[in-house]
Amino acid sequence: MMTQMHCAPISAPPVSNADVPPRALSIMRPQMRLLAPVLISWSAAASVVLLSAQTSSAQMPDVAAGRKRAEVCMACHGENGRAVVPGVPHLAGQNRDYLAQALRDYRLARERHNPTMTEMAKPLSDVDIDNIAGFFHGLRAEK
Ligand code: HEC
Repeated sequence: MMTQMHCAPISAPPVSNADVPPRALSIMRPQMRLLAPVLISWSAAASVVLLSAQTSSAQMPDVAAGRKRAEVCMACHGENGRAVVPGVPHLAGQNRDYLAQALRDYRLARERHNPTMTEMAKPLSDVDIDNIAGFFHGLRAEK
């Protein structure tokens, strides 16, 4: 008698809850149907991001090639990327993307206008630019 009285309130809730999940599901299902394409395209986007991250790391700059291509630059920007000519910026340790963007801008003579640097950047390919940027980026900024 005592055990039954104790058991009754415990076994009761699952029975009354039993008809809640179907109702909750009938509310959830249309949302899930709408969410599914979003989740799929989101994961597709995520894998594209992962893929491009892999691609860019596979195209790491060739620093040795960059050094070779940058020999002509050293007359002004210095062998160690520390400028030897007044008014010429130091390049050593500078952010790689910044350097590459600067060179692309000089090459187009659009965002950056400097006749000397446009002449210097014109013959550079995109690969040259990435390699050169990698080279100067890797140099120590301080003496
Ligand atoms: C005759 C001297 C000279 C030579 C050679 C030269 N530069 Fe420059 N460079 C300059 C000057 C001057 C500036 C600053 C121009 C300006 O005011 O925009 C500059 C600016 C730059 C900048 C932008 C730096 C910054 O902080 O914004 C980069 C990057 C650069 N040069 C890379 C190169 C590379 C790479 C080469 C060789 C392919 C090269 N330069 C050759 C004189 C030179």
